Order: sequence, then C-alpha cells, then structure tokens
Amino acid sequence: MKPLKLGVIGLGDICHAYLSNLQKYPDRIELYACACRTPARAEEKKETYGFRKAYADGDSLIADPEIDVILNLTTPGAHYYYNLEAIKAGKHVYSEKPLAATFAEGMEIMELARQKGLYVGCAPDTFMGSRIQTIRRLMDEGVTGRIVGGTVSCISHGWEWFHPNPVFFYQAGGGPVLDIGPYYMTALLSLLGPVDSVCAMGVQPEAERMIHSGEKAGQHFPVDPDIMTSVMAVLKFRCGAVVNYTMCWDAWDSLVPRMELYGEKASVVMPDEDPNGGPNLFGGDLLVKDEATYRWKNMPRKEGDEEIPWEIAEVKHPYSAVSFVENNRGIGLVDMAEAIAEGRRNRASGDMALHMLEVSEAILVSAREQRYVQTHTDFERPEAMPQI
Ligand SMILES: NC(=O)c1ccc[n+]([C@@H]2O[C@H](COP(=O)([O-])OP(=O)(O)OC[C@H]3O[C@@H](n4cnc5c(N)ncnc54)[C@H](O)[C@@H]3O)[C@@H](O)[C@H]2O)c1
Repeated sequence: MKPLKLGVIGLGDICHAYLSNLQKYPDRIELYACACRTPARAEEKKETYGFRKAYADGDSLIADPEIDVILNLTTPGAHYYYNLEAIKAGKHVYSEKPLAATFAEGMEIMELARQKGLYVGCAPDTFMGSRIQTIRRLMDEGVTGRIVGGTVSCISHGWEWFHPNPVFFYQAGGGPVLDIGPYYMTALLSLLGPVDSVCAMGVQPEAERMIHSGEKAGQHFPVDPDIMTSVMAVLKFRCGAVVNYTMCWDAWDSLVPRMELYGEKASVVMPDEDPNGGPNLFGGDLLVKDEATYRWKNMPRKEGDEEIPWEIAEVKHPYSAVSFVENNRGIGLVDMAEAIAEGRRNRASGDMALHMLEVSEAILVSAREQRYVQTHTDFERPEAMPQI
C-alpha cells in the first residue's frame, strides 16, 4: 500500500510516544509535516522525527494539499476545531481523546465525515493491546461465558503531580471522566458493545490545585466549576451487563483493581495498583478464575504456574515491528491507514469515540441532574485483533 502522508498538529508531552512509534510503520504512514504554535518547537520536531515540513500553525498545515490524514495531538479544547477543519479540507482525521469537548461537537464532526466519506479515528487505542485483546479472546472462545457485570476504577490524586502543564486537565473537555475515563470506557465498549443507560454522582472537593512538577511547580490554578473530580457511576450495557465505574482525582491511593469483569463461567481481573496502569496500558497481568479450577491464574502465565487449562495464550501483536505490550500509542492510526487501503472499518473508530463521549457526558448529566440518562448512538464493536 502507498503510505498516507501525515500532518501532526500539537507537539507537546504526548507527541514523542506517538511519533517514535509511528516511525516504525513507514510503509503505512509517512511523517510528512508537523505544526506547533511555537515555531522553534515545530522545527525541532521536524529534525528529530524527519518530517519534510514544519508549520507555525495548524490551519496552514491543514491547507497543505499533499497531506492525507491529520493527527490531532492538541489539548482537548482544540480537538473540535482542528478535527472539523481537517474534515472540511477533505482529510482523514485521527484525534487524541476526547474526539471533542462535547457530544454535540462530536456529532458534528462525525456527521461531516460521513457526508464526505472520510475516516475518523480516535484514541485511546490501548484496547488493541495484548491485555484487553486477551480478555476479548477469553470471551470469544467461551472461557468467561456471558459477561453479566464488572467494575472499573481509577483512583489517584490527579495529574498535576507529574504533568508540567496540567491546567487543561481541569478545564472543559477534562476532568477524570473525559481524560482518564476514556481508557476504561473504551476498553469496556470494545468488549461489551454500546451502553444503554447510566446513573451517577459526582463532586469537586477542591476548587484550586497546585502544579507539582516542571518549571511551574508551586503555582496554583483554579478548577473549572463544571468539572467533577470524583465521579461514581453505574453503566447498564445493551448486552445486559451492569458495570460500576469510579473515576477519582481526590484520593491518595487505592488497592481496588483497575478493572474486573464477571462472566457466567469466569471472572477476569486487572490487578494493577498504579493508577496509570489498567486499560491505560497495552499489556500487563491478568488474573482469571473459572468454575473448573476455582483458583486465580495469571495470564500471561508466570514462571512456576500450572498450565492454563484453556487452549488460549496471550494474544500476540499482529504487526511485526513492535511487541504487543509496549507503549504502542498510534497503532489505532496505523490500523486506520490499513483500513482505508482495504476499505474496511477501523478499530479505534470515530463512531465508538462518539458513543464514548455520549456516555461520558451522560454520566456528568446524571450526576448534575440526579437522574438516569439514556444513550442513543450506536457503533459496531471493533473486530478482535488477529492472532499471529
Ligand atoms: N501527556 C500525557 O501523558 C497524555 C497521555 C495520553 C493522552 N494525552 C492527550 O494528548 C493530548 C495532548 O496532551 P499533551 O499532554 O501532549 O498536552 P501539552 O499541553 O503538553 O501539548 C499540547 C500541544 O497542543 C498545542 N495546542 C494546544 N492548544 C492549541 C490550539 N488552540 N491551537 C494550536 N495548538 C494548540 C500546544 O501548543 C502543544 O504543542 C490531550 O488530549 C491529552 O489528553 C496526553
């Protein structure tokens, strides 16, 4: 296939994870142009990653007729604008999450892309990693049986502890539900399909936060009054499963597993203690307990473990360049490039991201208005990753 010419807008903290990974797929993606509001940064990244062109603003990059696909790595407040402008210019889009700051904006993006016949993809793509794909395999091969319930939980003290510019996490489009929640929600959606309805409660215990790392350490900043930093919800999926959902940036720590799914025949647990673990990572341990053996087993198997009784091992990466457990951010875009060439659906799809946005917004509405909220959008569950 002819590689797609990529234009990247936004060259901040996360760009290295993407660009160093995308460099491994020159047959699918050509790192063609990059843009940053700080021109010196754009020039620096051009040299580092071998882009052909550097632009001082996103609009000029979008106007470049050579570019096929835009990778939007700006902060959430700018996702809607660049995603929509890129589609207006006839380009495919792959965006960092969330697709837009509001569901209504997300709808507009997807509607225009449909009219123009363009692909939209959106992070997170961690559900394509070995761990969630192994859960998918356990489900597809009948080990878990029908999933009837579960719980997801990310409990920490907030991202101002590690991020040098954390203010955007506490502004429109941020907060734990829209920032870290998408990893958990997308993992669930990719496994269980669409959500039917939600109910939730949420609070904002601290109106002000302090930056703890980088040059701005010690600076205080306000939290947008609309942002809830501790949210607990219950999600009812259309498949019938009911899942507890906790996203919290107000606690020091927790030992609650990041994710548990309860099947009729087996339970599956992500035991990570680190709040940056769980569905936020591509790989990692899984614990499985089924009715036949009735003891917890590690997947992938740890040395000394008994043989796993199922004919299922950890799902390995279908792309040749990287292992399936590394920080593979961007494989959703690589998959989208292949999907465009093959005329198939991409896995980290705009439709799933739009549903993710609708459910996340429904959680916030439910918490604010103290009522159950029904969802309406639909998407097709992404195909499982092929096993090599
Ligand atoms: N940093 C992480 O660990 C991390 C992890 C996963 C996902 N993300 C997501 O990646 C995205 C970017 O995060 P980041 O941490 O790199 O942020 P950052 O603040 O470090 O960088 C953001 C970049 O976007 C540019 N930008 C912001 N607003 C813009 C605008 N209006 N017009 C043009 N350019 C604009 C900035 O100049 C900068 O280059 C966010 O959506 C975030 O949720 C970040």
